[in-house]
Amino acid sequence: MTTSIFGRVALAAGLATAALAGSSAAQAQGNLVLYCTVQEEWCRVMVTNFERETGIKVAMTRKSSGELYAQVKAEASNPRGDVWWGGTGDPHLQAAEEGLAQEYESPMNKDLQDWAIRQWQSSKKRTIGVYAGALGFGYNTKQIAGKGIPELKCWSDLLNPKLKDEVQVADPNSSGTSYTMLATVVQLMGEDKGFDYLKRLHRNINQYTKSGAAPAKATSLGETLVGITFMHDMVTMVVEGGPVKVVAPCEGTGYEIGSMTIIKGARNLDNAKKWYDWALTPAAQALGAQAKSYQVPSNKNAPVPPQAPKLTEVKLINYDFDKYGSSAERRRLLSKWDNEVKNLPK
Ligand code: G6P
Repeated sequence: MTTSIFGRVALAAGLATAALAGSSAAQAQGNLVLYCTVQEEWCRVMVTNFERETGIKVAMTRKSSGELYAQVKAEASNPRGDVWWGGTGDPHLQAAEEGLAQEYESPMNKDLQDWAIRQWQSSKKRTIGVYAGALGFGYNTKQIAGKGIPELKCWSDLLNPKLKDEVQVADPNSSGTSYTMLATVVQLMGEDKGFDYLKRLHRNINQYTKSGAAPAKATSLGETLVGITFMHDMVTMVVEGGPVKVVAPCEGTGYEIGSMTIIKGARNLDNAKKWYDWALTPAAQALGAQAKSYQVPSNKNAPVPPQAPKLTEVKLINYDFDKYGSSAERRRLLSKWDNEVKNLPK
């Protein structure tokens, strides 16, 4: 167990006054095809600001991390995307290992947290950390009342038979959030016990969604009692006034290093680098909070949103990104989950 990598999370240092890309550009400066794997609202705010500051026209597609990885792979012989921004780091690492990513060293690297740079080093300069967030779950405080269920604090509490069909999580094939959970459970409990846990949890699952954050919304709306997501996605629901309690599981939990990759063969490589440098500035990283996304930013000088779960206070496992982001391991675990968990009768 360690929380050390987040022990030196920078204090909000105020926004840098000028973004790297400069101020508004009157003339169109060409195009950029952006693949975005965070919440749609955040994707849009990023695109609007980048277009305004650079004059570059952005065509954006939003998908979940696993789906986006599959798309980049399918397009490898004829790449359409230029930059893949956001989403959990594991599929970015897998893409890097499989030769789908372009190496790049940004002048912004010197301002980044160690955990962001480690991602870049271990991928041989092919992907880099843009934010971090811890996995957890949330529950609907109105729905739980009167059900005779003890307070939910731990992963083990989600196995309570009274929660049958009351828990929602994404499918780890499409969702990086859910793959983070799969890898977390395996690291926390060991593979056999971890899969045993997932099989027992399966009895309580009402739906495996496509997108990782969807169960947060469903929890807030009372469509499910419990949702397993990144903690910050549940915080968004609380900020919007939802009756949601956010939980950092008592046994410990995994986390993501949300990442960014320039796609190998990018047709607009110069503009891809402009996006990359800009997305690592404090000003660009402050846009997440505007879109109610409360991750911890990777630039040491970017303000940490006050709503962001404090990673130093969450019991984090020493998540092995090299192993669980490797192509062979990610493929193996996903197919094991498909074979042993997904289609189990309830
Ligand atoms: C949400 C979270 C991000 C995470 C992403 C992964 O947008 O706010 O922190 O990286 O989900 O999405 P996915 O749909 O792949 O689980």
